[in-house]
Amino acid sequence: MVPFVPDDAPFSKEQRAWLNGFLAGMFSSAPAKEIAVKPAPLKISVFYASQTGTAEGLARKLTKDLKSKGFDATLTSLEAYTSAALAAERYAIFIASTYGQGEAPDSAQFFYEQVCVEHFPRYENLQYAVFALGDRHYETFCKFGIDLDNKLASLGATRILDRVECDVEIDGPFAAWKEQLFRRLEAISKEEPPDSLPPASPVLPPSIAMAAPVSSAAATREHPYLAPLKEKRPLTRNGSTKLTLHLTWSIAESGIRYEPGDACGIIPHNDPVLVEEILNLLRFSGEEQVELSKAGAMPLKKALEKYLVITRLNRKLIERYATMGQCKRLLALLAPEQQSHLEQYVYERGLIDILEECPGVIHHPSELVEMLPRLTPRLYSISSSPSVHTGEVHTTIAVVRYRSLNRERGGVCSTLVADRVPVGERLPIYIQPNKKFRLPEDPDTPVIMIGPGTGIAPFRAFLHERRARGAKGRNWLFFGERNAANDFLYREELESMAADGHLTRLDTAFSRDQEHKVYVQDRMMENAPLFWSWLQDGASLYVCGDASRMAKDVDAALHAIVARHGNLDQEGAKEYVRQLKEDHRYHRDVY
Ligand SMILES: Cc1cc2nc3c(=O)[nH]c(=O)nc-3n(C[C@H](O)[C@H](O)[C@H](O)COP(=O)(O)OP(=O)(O)OC[C@H]3O[C@@H](n4cnc5c(N)ncnc54)[C@H](O)[C@@H]3O)c2cc1C
Ligand SMILES: NC(=O)c1ccc[n+]([C@@H]2O[C@H](COP(=O)([O-])OP(=O)(O)OC[C@H]3O[C@@H](n4cnc5c(N)ncnc54)[C@H](OP(=O)(O)O)[C@@H]3O)[C@@H](O)[C@H]2O)c1
Ligand SMILES: Cc1cc2nc3c(=O)[nH]c(=O)nc-3n(C[C@H](O)[C@H](O)[C@H](O)COP(=O)(O)O)c2cc1C
Repeated sequence: MVPFVPDDAPFSKEQRAWLNGFLAGMFSSAPAKEIAVKPAPLKISVFYASQTGTAEGLARKLTKDLKSKGFDATLTSLEAYTSAALAAERYAIFIASTYGQGEAPDSAQFFYEQVCVEHFPRYENLQYAVFALGDRHYETFCKFGIDLDNKLASLGATRILDRVECDVEIDGPFAAWKEQLFRRLEAISKEEPPDSLPPASPVLPPSIAMAAPVSSAAATREHPYLAPLKEKRPLTRNGSTKLTLHLTWSIAESGIRYEPGDACGIIPHNDPVLVEEILNLLRFSGEEQVELSKAGAMPLKKALEKYLVITRLNRKLIERYATMGQCKRLLALLAPEQQSHLEQYVYERGLIDILEECPGVIHHPSELVEMLPRLTPRLYSISSSPSVHTGEVHTTIAVVRYRSLNRERGGVCSTLVADRVPVGERLPIYIQPNKKFRLPEDPDTPVIMIGPGTGIAPFRAFLHERRARGAKGRNWLFFGERNAANDFLYREELESMAADGHLTRLDTAFSRDQEHKVYVQDRMMENAPLFWSWLQDGASLYVCGDASRMAKDVDAALHAIVARHGNLDQEGAKEYVRQLKEDHRYHRDVY
């Protein structure tokens, strides 16, 4: 068999390709008889489009499994991959998540833009499959995976398998899809002549010696760590219209490691008071045994508290509930022309509301359990620096509370940590690495950080880390919140860093301190010449916080600054920003 460098070996994609070519070349100098009896395996490229790592993790697993089945599989991010390179592929598997309003993850946007400008069949030689990841709570469920699948088909590529659209419960659908995929690929292997081997090169590339091993964390989503809460304090003051908390989790005993830019996953559970209300409405005791896939048998109460979503609705759930109970009002909402009413209905309600509105539908606990989606972990950008806050992970959490239909409601995880987890108690946490949101390697590189609200979190980590590392690069922070008096998160720390010069500039935008709104992007525009000069000096740009409005408006302001001060038209500014991304100088961690 041709020896190969495994995916998790500490080499870049290019280095690995080169080494694999080299090994293949060595192999090709073996006696001709041996080559003839062992043809090269089918070459399969596994691509991922991922924001928070789920698609990447699955793609990594798939690549490993394909290799163990004897395929020549390689793993590639769609970041920095081109539509032209795809045209040269023969077999491609895509694992893709969806963000925004049905968009590609940031890292895959450029690739997809390129594919979308193709108007003629271009991928006739390509056979492919798409595993789309998403969350049914979004109206644009799995839209990027769907769009990518349809686009490739329209450009001449052939599906190996039908697309799978996967909700938050991933393991089962992924395993089933993988099995189907293996069967199809094995069948293709038998039908098709083997691919040719990559050419061998006699010279080792110099950068191989510099490849560094990747760091790892000791807690994962599947195997979280029960971390004690060490400290909890409000960052907003009493008079504030919101509550944002600083929480310190002890990881001293855990072996957990992380880097600035990573997120902390918290595995939450529901409010027992709400669970009790639901049980009372349904006239269940909660002791009834129910069966949950993977988790096994347990009392209904435990399933509702720990495993199932009870605070939010989605179309699929309403469809099932309405059909089971023949609820006229709910059925009417499902008509295509009622889409906006359905969205409004879902936005304002949780499980308890449909149970009250259309009672008598659920007769057995298993009927309820089968229709509810699984509760998922919540991610929080880590606000501590591993070099400074040793043995701790800090998180900065805005508490989601609102009132709708005469009921006080709250976000599952943020109210859990605010109301029901006292200092000293433990919650399961893990590290979600975010390799796309890292400080520049060169400590002299200037950084511009734009982080209104909880978007400040990773920048607090960056600032502490840079100071600890003795990084000499300049630091510019844009921070925004509602009111200066009550909502200036980490005010003392930031002002002291500004006073001693570690923060070269601190620009704040307090949106509700004057008649008209002032946002971070207004401060960017006011300082546009300086902003441009930092970019020209090679600054790396980071944006963190709200995805729905802020990140888009900041992106528009960036384009405007680049166009005006770089003397570029719209297309030129777009190209400049695209290049910033490609050079890993424009990073976003938005939610
Ligand atoms: C990579 C990443 C990093 C993140 N970092 C941070 C961070 O540093 N700090 C932070 O606070 N959050 C952060 N988040 C967001 C965080 O993960 C959670 O989404 C957030 O805390 C809400 O979770 P929850 O369980 O409290 O609320 P959920 O139970 O998820 O409820 C939130 C939902 O409530 C509904 N809702 C909210 N307000 C209203 C309203 N007024 N009316 C009707 N419905 C409403 C909406 O449907 C909303 O989606 C991050 C997210 C990601 C993906
Ligand atoms: N629904 C809730 O109760 C609730 C509560 C907390 C957080 N969240 C969500 O959680 C995420 C993070 O919230 P957060 O606490 O970090 O704060 P946030 O809601 O993002 O607000 C931080 C600051 O950003 C401002 N802002 C609003 N729109 C903006 C825009 N288009 N461009 C730039 N700045 C803008 C806000 O101003 P104004 O608010 O004055 O417009 C505020 O001053 C967001 O997605 C938010 O929607 C929701
Ligand atoms: C901010 C945010 C926006 C999202 N938007 C969508 C969406 O529009 N449609 C969808 O189906 N899923 C959406 N999702 C769910 C993700 O696609 C899903 O969690 C996926 O498994 C994440 O994969 P990744 O970790 O590889 O990025 C969103 C998730 C987040 C955090």
